[in-house]
Amino acid sequence: MALIFCSRTDDPEEWRVEFAEVMPELNFRVWPDIGKPEEIEFALVWDPMADRLLDLPNLKLIASLGAGVDHLLAATMLPDGVPMTRFVDDNLTQGMREWVLLYALYCLRRVPEYLAWQNEQNWHRLDVPFAYERRVGIMGLGILGEASAWALQHIGFQVNGWSRRKKDLQEIQCFSGAAELDEFLAHSDILVCLLPLTPETEGIIDRELLAKLPRGACLINGARGGLVVETDLIQALESGHLAHAVLDVTRKEPLPADNPLWRARNITITPHIASVTNAKSGARLMAENIRRIQAGETPHYVVDPKAGY
Ligand code: NDP
Ligand code: OXD
Repeated sequence: MALIFCSRTDDPEEWRVEFAEVMPELNFRVWPDIGKPEEIEFALVWDPMADRLLDLPNLKLIASLGAGVDHLLAATMLPDGVPMTRFVDDNLTQGMREWVLLYALYCLRRVPEYLAWQNEQNWHRLDVPFAYERRVGIMGLGILGEASAWALQHIGFQVNGWSRRKKDLQEIQCFSGAAELDEFLAHSDILVCLLPLTPETEGIIDRELLAKLPRGACLINGARGGLVVETDLIQALESGHLAHAVLDVTRKEPLPADNPLWRARNITITPHIASVTNAKSGARLMAENIRRIQAGETPHYVVDPKAGY
C-alpha cells in the first residue's frame, strides 16, 4: 500500500515521520519518485498534477493538502471514479479563526494608522469604536467562515454571513445567494472573505461589489487571490471608499515585486499564512480516510468537482 506526496511548499520529511507513527504499514513516496505506478493507491497533493494522476491505475483517493481544491481542479485531470477530498482539521480552523480575529481587531482599532504614525514619531489619539458598534460580514459560511463568525461574535462584533445555501445560526444574521448579496454587503463595515475559488466566485470582489460596502469599510481576504479584481481594489482604496484591505492571498503567489499591491495605499499583506496545514493532525486525518476506504466506506470531506469546492 503506497501513497504519493506531491508539494513544493510542504516538507515531505515532516509528513513521512507522522505517517510512520500513525500508519507504519504505509509506503510513503515523494514525487517524482513514484516507484511502480500500480502500487500507488493514495495521492496527497498540493501542486497541480496535469494528467499525471491518470497514470496511476490503482488510485483510490486524491487528497488536497489544504482546505481549498481550486488549484487542483483547475490543472489536474481526475481519473474517473476516484474521490477527491480536502482538509478539514481543527488546527487549520483554529489558525484561520486567529488570523481573522487578529485582523478584524486590527481594522477596528485602526492599527495601520498608528503604525504609520510611529514611523513619523507622531503621538496622537484616534477615536475608535467598540466591536459591538461594528458589523462584520463573512462571505462563505463554511467550516472556516462559521468558526471565524463565532469568534468575532464572541468578542462583541455584530456578525452577518453570506453563503450559497441559507444557514440558520443563532445570533448571526444569515444571507444567501445573489438575491441577498446587496443587503449583506450594505451591512458589512468589515468584509471578511472565506469563499472557495470556483467558476462562480472568480473575481466576485470587483468594483461593483466594493461600491456596495458602506464608505470607510475594510476588506479582509483570507481565501484566494482570484476572488478579487486587484485593480478595482486598488482604486477603491485610492478613492477612500475602502479604508483598508488585508490580503493573505493574491492572484500570483509569491506576489511579484512589481505588483502594484505592494505599493498601494492602506494595504496589509501577509504571505498566505493565515492558516497552514499541520502535518501531525493532517497525517492522522489522511490515515483515517485511508482506513475508511479500506473498509469500503466513503472518506470524509469529499469535494464536489462540479461545485468546485
Ligand atoms: P467550505 O467549503 O467549508 O465553505 C465554503 C463556503 O462558501 C460555504 O458556506 C459555501 O456555501 C460558500 N460558497 C461557495 N460558493 C458560493 C457562492 N457561489 N456564493 C455564496 N457562497 C458560496 O470551505 P472552508 O471554510 O473550509 O474554506 C474556505 C476557503 O478558505 C478555502 O476554499 C480556501 O480557498 C481558503 N483557505 C485559505 C487558507 C489560507 O491560509 N489563506 C487556509 C485554508 C483555506 P454553502 O455553505 O451554501 O455550501
Ligand atoms: C488551504 C490553504 O486551502 O492553505 O488550506 O490555502
